[in-house]
Amino acid sequence: MMKIVYATGNADKVREIKEILKGCPAELVPMSEFPPLEVVEDRGTFSGNAGKKAYEVSAHTGLPALADDSGLVVEALDGAPGIYSSRYAGDKAAYADNVRKLLFKMRGKRNRKAAFVCVSVLYLPGGEIFTARGKLEGVISKEPSGEGGFGYDPVFYIAKKRKTLAELGDEEKNAISHRGEAFRKMAEIIRKLASRDSLSVTEESGAARQEDPAQ
Ligand code: IMP
Repeated sequence: MMKIVYATGNADKVREIKEILKGCPAELVPMSEFPPLEVVEDRGTFSGNAGKKAYEVSAHTGLPALADDSGLVVEALDGAPGIYSSRYAGDKAAYADNVRKLLFKMRGKRNRKAAFVCVSVLYLPGGEIFTARGKLEGVISKEPSGEGGFGYDPVFYIAKKRKTLAELGDEEKNAISHRGEAFRKMAEIIRKLASRDSLSVTEESGAARQEDPAQ
């Protein structure tokens, strides 16, 4: 089974991703099994940051690495908080601080359209890179509601469900979420890679693959 390091320390994201990738032919190894590594998220886009995390973690561990970058994009705020979603109210901001700042910025705004975006990147030690994206549209509610999920979920309202994301169960959230969409697509990519790798092993082809520390 393909070993993949999962490049995040965010326990809430790990919980959701493990659930979404259930049944995928990969053994997910947490970053905590390796010497600590700090990756600075200084790229200007979700895919830039996710790609940087995946590359640096793969270089650090010698294994394929899976990373994601996600966030909330609000139309009336010109796309903010975007890549700064986790630190909108400051570097060590708690989820509740970020939500408070968002509601403050949205005071009096009639256009409350928003989207959650997730970009997932898999980097293989040989240099191959795979990307999958997901998006969920909704509106920012006037006040928080619900106890489930994490982050901005209590103020992200889905009209079709007549609920905020925090009022949905984990499974119900994963079925429609940006992270669910991106990682279901990534699971498909991993399945294809796993069958390709099992072929290349039985055929003993490809010198580069045999030198690959992931084999
Ligand atoms: P990342 O760890 O850099 O990807 O930051 C993601 C941040 O975006 C989180 O800390 C949340 O603030 C926000 N976010 C991403 N996905 C979700 C979600 O599913 N629900 C609520 N907030 C989310």
